[in-house]
Amino acid sequence: MRCFFLKLAIPLSVLLVSSCAALDGTPSHTDVDAWLRYAPLDKQVARTYQNLPNKTLIVGDSIILRTAEQELVHSATQMLGRTLTSAPAPDGSMIVMGKLGEVRVLTALSSPSRNLIPDAYWITTAKVHRSPCIVITALNDRGVLYGVFALLSKIARGESLKGINELQVPSAPIRWVNQWDNLDGRIERGYGGRSIFFSEGKVRDDLTRAAAYARLLASVGINGCTINNVNAAPQVLDDSFIPQIARIADAFRPWGVQLSISVDLSSPKVIGGLDTFDPLDPLVATWWQTKVDEIYRVIPDFGGIVVKADSEGRLGPSSYGRTHADAANVIARALKPHGGVVFYRAFVYNHHLDWHDLKNDRAKAAYDNFHPLDGTFDDHAIVQIKNGPIDFQVREPVSPLFAGLHRTNEAIELQVTQEYTGQQKHLCFLVPMWKEVLDFDMRIDGASTPVKDLISGRIFHRPTGGFIGVVNVGLDDNWLGSPLAMANLYGFGRLAWNPALSAESIINEWTRLTFGADPLVVRTINSLQLNSWSVYESYTGPLGAGTLTNILGNHYEPGPESSEENGWGQWHRADRQGIGMDRTVATGTGYIGQYPEEVQKIYESLASCPDNLLLFFHHVSYTYVLHSGKTVVQHVYDSHYDGAQKAGDFVAQWETLKDRIDANRYADILDRFQYQAKEAVVWRDSICNWIYRLSNIPDQKGRLGSAKK
Ligand code: GCU
Repeated sequence: MRCFFLKLAIPLSVLLVSSCAALDGTPSHTDVDAWLRYAPLDKQVARTYQNLPNKTLIVGDSIILRTAEQELVHSATQMLGRTLTSAPAPDGSMIVMGKLGEVRVLTALSSPSRNLIPDAYWITTAKVHRSPCIVITALNDRGVLYGVFALLSKIARGESLKGINELQVPSAPIRWVNQWDNLDGRIERGYGGRSIFFSEGKVRDDLTRAAAYARLLASVGINGCTINNVNAAPQVLDDSFIPQIARIADAFRPWGVQLSISVDLSSPKVIGGLDTFDPLDPLVATWWQTKVDEIYRVIPDFGGIVVKADSEGRLGPSSYGRTHADAANVIARALKPHGGVVFYRAFVYNHHLDWHDLKNDRAKAAYDNFHPLDGTFDDHAIVQIKNGPIDFQVREPVSPLFAGLHRTNEAIELQVTQEYTGQQKHLCFLVPMWKEVLDFDMRIDGASTPVKDLISGRIFHRPTGGFIGVVNVGLDDNWLGSPLAMANLYGFGRLAWNPALSAESIINEWTRLTFGADPLVVRTINSLQLNSWSVYESYTGPLGAGTLTNILGNHYEPGPESSEENGWGQWHRADRQGIGMDRTVATGTGYIGQYPEEVQKIYESLASCPDNLLLFFHHVSYTYVLHSGKTVVQHVYDSHYDGAQKAGDFVAQWETLKDRIDANRYADILDRFQYQAKEAVVWRDSICNWIYRLSNIPDQKGRLGSAKK
């Protein structure tokens, strides 16, 4: 646990300046600070900031502005080795923070290069009473806080501040995380310890970690957090529970993170005492309104409500023959007067599908359920859509529903917690995958319509939309169970702010902030992270067949047989003749027909379907020849051997960093790579043997002997 226990006993303001030192005098790095370590800069680098003012001034007053100033004072002091102090009034050269209107009273600012919108920030220079100042300003207090974090990040990475004039605008208003925490303290698909919010059916007394989490989220522009599992316990809406939740909102508030909750749609009946939860029943509507009003009385900045209904055994509007829009709207209308929103999840499918029927297809479910309802959701409702049509697999095509809603707000749901991608035990940096999804051009009506512009609402002029990341941090020191996995949380926030950022620049920022400036360290970690998704894919889920894991168990070990002969619909249809799901319009399930025409054409034809999604869209023989020139079966052998080899090489790459980073993180991560290397061999052997048993086609390179056990 190192320094964190020491910190728990002291307030957050002190926490921000504390710097733990190991017994041997070398600084040890607290995992809990993640990318906000603000390590002291090298003396020479620190000298380049000698003109940075020593005083700070906030114009106006709010809890968020005070947090911003405190963060700046403490963190800059820590990095620069000189003391910044807060000035009560203008006093020479300063860093001035405040909302644009109020800052303008103090100084004549030029006009920003673009229009500011809420949460955007502008960092510039100006003179106050003839003294040169740095000004961090925005339309709202939260924007000022984001500007402070941006300035600190630049300093931490040694970037010049000379003549700074930077305006940053978020890509979408919704940049939220979902936590799948249960009220008893367990976390569904959480791999980083127990809940930071709940324990034994109650909100924890000590919410230090909740506040520290909000700080991390704010530092990358995330403005909302849903605190409980989408498989929601109705008790979350109990009269006695709401004041407890309000304590978490209090911990979030200084960081501008709005709290939201997941609810069970049957709550009016289960905890409200009504004999129905029919969304069209006026008594049910009144119940939701009363409940939402009650929440806003104690949490005035409450963000909204997430709903999972008619999915994986959850009750939903189908109980009364009502639509998902009916269910979403009854809650949206209760939230609207307060400015809140409802997120209605499109993850609705029948998990008792008849697997004998080759026309059945779980991938079609979201579009089939929600496309016909387009235009019937209220403006305070947002349809929350997983990136792919199945369930966070290592590779899936983009969900066609993003292109299927033109008159409905939408948000993309990405999974930061690595459920199907190695559970934080395997390195799998997901930003390159998310980039592919966000950049994917749906070609609606033959025009450029990338997913990132659909979810932001830009293409169809929707009032809102954006990004949701399922994160599931826990009480472990390093939040996600592995220090390297935190790059996914950082990357999610950065992409939600600006999906045009490259994976390379995001990881470069994260590595610099988390591990310092040593070029070998930065190069090595960046390269490990950037290669990790394709390596993981190559030994777990080839050619779009999905992650060939045990889908009935923990979603972690190899278990390709578990996908078949059950109603869950994660089928790859592998048999003695061939492998893959035929989803074509011509002969298959017709799923491809859900995409706009140009995209349909690419996937429908074997000639243009990309190799990496071949088995998602087509059933082919094992001897089918890929664009790469290899047969399917040989590709499976080669990619598994190659992937396992590369995972093994990660160990040696990491070992080059010995004595270049702190011993604790070095040893911890080395253990993880050694473990991953062994697991990759288990995956390789298991999948290669399986495909050999089915196809009876030997490996051209004769390697299977060692795998045949
Ligand atoms: C996955 C996951 C579940 C989760 C579900 C959801 O299926 O395994 O634990 O409840 O997604 O997103 O609702």
